[in-house]
Amino acid sequence: MSSTIKVTVLGAAGGIGQPLSLLLKLNPYITELSLYDVVNIPGIAADLNHIDTNVKINSFIRDNNEPKGTNTQLINALKGSDFIIIPAGIPRKPGMTRGDLFNINASICNELATFIAIHSPNSFILVISNPVNSTIPIFREILNNYGVFNPLKLFGVTALDNVRSNTFISNLIDNSLPKDFNVPVVGGHSGHSIVPLFSQLDKSYKILDDNNIYDALIHRVQYGGDEIVEAKNGNGSSTLSMAYASNKFFNIIINGYLNLDNNNNNNNNCQISSYIYLDDSINGMKELKTGLMEILKGTKLEIPKYLAIPMNFDINGIKNVDYKWIDKMNEKEKELFVIAVGFINQNVEKGLNFVYK
Ligand code: NAD
Ligand code: LMR
Repeated sequence: MSSTIKVTVLGAAGGIGQPLSLLLKLNPYITELSLYDVVNIPGIAADLNHIDTNVKINSFIRDNNEPKGTNTQLINALKGSDFIIIPAGIPRKPGMTRGDLFNINASICNELATFIAIHSPNSFILVISNPVNSTIPIFREILNNYGVFNPLKLFGVTALDNVRSNTFISNLIDNSLPKDFNVPVVGGHSGHSIVPLFSQLDKSYKILDDNNIYDALIHRVQYGGDEIVEAKNGNGSSTLSMAYASNKFFNIIINGYLNLDNNNNNNNNCQISSYIYLDDSINGMKELKTGLMEILKGTKLEIPKYLAIPMNFDINGIKNVDYKWIDKMNEKEKELFVIAVGFINQNVEKGLNFVYK
């Protein structure tokens, strides 16, 4: 492990990119923060540079005079990155689904994945750009076609679903705080593909015996993104809560990467879900797939190639995936999970068609 940690943010001038870069500038484990965008980066970097923390800021803006296919600034931004976090892409407006972002964001992801494959293939890659259910398959295929795909290091960032679940259940339980909860969320990151597993909390909560309350809670997590899109009324989607959520996810990865788990956290806090390619080489995958086969038995659905599942991390990326949640799901969660897999398989297909059209 290097004693320095370089983190690169692609899309750093955006609604998520700016507050996320601020949070990363405060991180004691990061030595260098590399900020890349196609607009506005010099001013943002100058601003962050006045903060008296030790993280060194470097900034890069695309030079539109360069011929298509070359991008010296992006190459320089990526060089030597340990972690790349990607909030590049357009956000939703009211009335849009995440799927409506596909055409533009798939092209952006295509470009970024290609440069990463060539210039920084060993980095951890954390993709925020929506629709995550389809952009991760695009990243995976491009990296794989260059022969550099590492299944332990490519992550769709779905941490906001965990953050929302913790907040929304806490809102319902008297005398509780969001920090009292760590709800595992599986599936994908879009509407009915999101499945929060409230059954897996340490305690059961009487209030969830009321089906109307339980259903409304699940619906709020699944469609929490819409609440923000509507409230922002044409000015984008979640940015501040997403910057928080992606920073939370990054910190959990860093805890595993630097082996801080035993000192700083109990095991529960070191686990979080991410949307990944279900590669057979990952620890726990055999058991996970056996469980998935059991749940999907009798449906016409294939085992998904990608899924958000809880996992732990170490210096190599994913240390292991958790599969115990499958047997512990209640009947409602099992039904929701089957519905989720149907959507995810379609979203994955869309990503693959983009790459191989
Ligand atoms: P934004 O429009 O405010 O910012 C996006 C940034 O990407 C802009 O600064 C833009 O210049 C930049 N960009 C565009 N093309 C680029 C390219 N080719 N290379 C580098 N940068 C490029 O949008 P936002 O609100 O920050 O959202 C960004 C993305 O994150 C959206 O797709 C949104 O749907 C998604 N999102 C995901 C989650 C999640 O949970 N995974 C949560 C919120 C938002
Ligand atoms: C969210 O869940 O807030 C994000 O995926 C953004 C969106 O489009 O809702």
